[in-house]
Amino acid sequence: MAVPYEERTCDCGALRAADVGKSVVLCGWVSVARDHGGMVFVDLRDRGGITQVKFNPDTDPKAHEVARSLRSEDVIAVRGEVAPRGPKNVNPKMPTGEIEVNVREIDVLGRAETPPFEIVDDLQTNEDTRLQYRYLDLRRAPMQRAIITRHRITKTIRDYFDRHGFLDIETPMLTKSTPEGARDYLVPSRLQHGRFFALPQSPQIFKQLLMISGFDRYMQIARCFRDEDLRADRQPEFTQIDVEMAFVQRENVMHHVEQCMADVMRTVVGVDIPLPIPRIAYDDAMRDYGIDRPDLRYDIKIRDVSAVAARTEFNIFREALAAGGCVRCIVVPKGGEMTRKETDGLTEEIKGIGAGGLPLVKVANEGGKTVLLTGIAKFFAGDAIIGDLLSACGAAVGDLILFAAGAADDVCKHLAWLRETVARRRNLIPANRYAWCWVVDFPLFGWDEETKSVFSMHHPFTSPKDEDLPLLQLGREELPSRDELLRVRAKAYDIVLNGTELGGGSIRIHRADVQSRVFSILGITPEQAKVKFGFLLQALSYGAPPHGGIALGLDRTAMLLSGASSIRDVLAFPKNARAVCPMTEAPSDVSDAQLRELGLSIIRQK
Ligand code: AMO
Repeated sequence: MAVPYEERTCDCGALRAADVGKSVVLCGWVSVARDHGGMVFVDLRDRGGITQVKFNPDTDPKAHEVARSLRSEDVIAVRGEVAPRGPKNVNPKMPTGEIEVNVREIDVLGRAETPPFEIVDDLQTNEDTRLQYRYLDLRRAPMQRAIITRHRITKTIRDYFDRHGFLDIETPMLTKSTPEGARDYLVPSRLQHGRFFALPQSPQIFKQLLMISGFDRYMQIARCFRDEDLRADRQPEFTQIDVEMAFVQRENVMHHVEQCMADVMRTVVGVDIPLPIPRIAYDDAMRDYGIDRPDLRYDIKIRDVSAVAARTEFNIFREALAAGGCVRCIVVPKGGEMTRKETDGLTEEIKGIGAGGLPLVKVANEGGKTVLLTGIAKFFAGDAIIGDLLSACGAAVGDLILFAAGAADDVCKHLAWLRETVARRRNLIPANRYAWCWVVDFPLFGWDEETKSVFSMHHPFTSPKDEDLPLLQLGREELPSRDELLRVRAKAYDIVLNGTELGGGSIRIHRADVQSRVFSILGITPEQAKVKFGFLLQALSYGAPPHGGIALGLDRTAMLLSGASSIRDVLAFPKNARAVCPMTEAPSDVSDAQLRELGLSIIRQK
C-alpha cells in the first residue's frame, strides 16, 4: 500500500473536532501501538504532536494486518478519515484528544530497532546515553519544545535588529586569538607548518573593525569557542547574540538590548517585562547581594552589622574587624524553623568554599520578650545590643540570621552562596518569575592576588568612564598605583536574568593612546600588543568612531526561557561535561597521513 507521504495534509498535532469527516494523510513515528483484540490503536507522533489512528479489521483488513506488525519508532504514513472519539474516549489532556483517524491505507516507510531508551517526556537515563543517541533523545517532546523555543528566540532577535537597521555580517571562524580570557581551540595550518589558526572566543575585534569600516549597526548570531572548564551554563562551543554600534553611549546599546529582550519575552513566554530594566551599580550589587549577577526574584539583602559586631565579645568578629574586614549577614525569613541538621549541613558546605564556619542566631519570643537563641546568641548580651542588631539587619521574631566575617571579598562570596542556597532550599524563589537587571559601573580592572597584577574585568578594549580617565595618567612614564587602578570604573554593563549573567558589553576605547596605556597597565608590552592586536591598533589610528556593543549568550537565554536546567538541553548536539561528543566520539584520533600533512606529531603522555 503506497501512501503518498509527500501529500501529507497536516502534522500530528493539528486535527480538532472541526476536522471530523476530512480525509487526511499523516506521517510520523509510532509512539505506542496497542492491539485491543480487534482494533489496533497507534499514537502517531511527529513534531506537531500526537494523533490517535485506528485500524479496524472489519472495514480495512489489509491495513489492520500491517498495523499488527508495528513496533515503537517505526515510521509510517497513513491515509484515512477524521472521526469523533465518542464522549467516553475523549482525552482532554491531548490537543487532538477529541478525534481519531480511521485508517484506510498504511505504508511502513522505515522499520525501527528497539531503541536504547523509551521516547518519553520524563526520561530517566544517564546523559551520556542520551547524547550518544541524541537523534532519538531529540524526538522527545521536551527536547523538541526546547529546540523550537530556541528557533523562535533567534527569529525574534533577527527580526528586531533587522527592523532597527542592524546588518548581519559574518566574521571569520579561522582567525587569531581573541582576548576573552579562556584557552583557544587551535587549528593547524596545512600550508604553513607550525602555524595555527585560533577559533574565535568571540567576534570582538572584528566587530570593532566593522565600526571603523562604517557599518555602524552590526549584529550576528555568532558561534564562539572557548576551551574552559565546563559547567551547566557553559559549553566549549556556544552561540552569542553579538551586537555593536557606532556613535553611541551605553544607554543606546542597553536600550536596544532591552527592547529586543522584551520582544523575545512577549513572543516566546507571553510575558511583558516592565522597561527600563532596573540598573544596579556594581558596588551596590556587591554590597547588597555579594555578587555581580544578583538573583532578584526574592527579597533577601545582605546587611552590614560591623558596628554591632564590634560590641560583642565574639572573637571571630573582633578579629575580622581588627584586620580591616567586616561582619555582614543575611536574614532568612522564618528560618527559625530550620533544624539543627539543616544548619549544620550549611556549615559544612560553606566550609567547603573557604569559610571558617557559620555563625548564626535565631530570633525568638520568650514571654513577650525578643531574644536570640542558639549559635552565637550568648555573645549578644543585653537588650540594647539585640535591639541594635535587629534594626541593623531587619530581622523579626521567627527569623534566622546567618553571619559572615572577614575580608570583604570573602564575606561577599560566602553570603552570596548562602543567599542563593537558602532561597533554593527553603522554596523562597517564586516559580515563573523573570527578574531582569543591568549591572553597570564595573571596575575596569580586577586584582589577581596570585600574580600580584591587574587584569581586565571585561576585556582590554573596554573604555574607562570619562570621569575616571585621569586616574590612568596618560602621557606619564610610570604606571598608576594599584589603588588608583582599582578605582577606575568602566563603561561596562552586564545583563542578568534570575541570577544568570546573560550578556556583557561595553563602550570601547576608540583612542589609540588610551588603548596603548591600558595595554601597558595590563603588562602587555608594545611589541606584544603589536603582534597580538597590531591590526586593531592601526585601524584605530585611521579614524575610529566612538563605539560599543554587547554579546548575549543565546544558549543561556534559551535555557532560562525554556525552563531547562542545563544549556545542553537547548543545543541539538552539545558536548558532555568532559567536552566530548559521545555520538560522534569527537575529539578523535587522526591518521598518521593527516598529521604528516599538517607537519605535526603527537607526544603521548606516559
Ligand atoms: P563575554 O565573555 O562576557 O563577552 O560573553 C558574553 C556572553 O556569552 C555567554 N558565554 C557563554 N555561554 C556558554 N558557554 C560559554 N563557555 C560561554 N562563555 C560566554 C554568556 C556571556 O554573558 N566580546 C564580549 C562581548 C562584548 O564586549 O561585546 C564577550 O564575549 O552568556
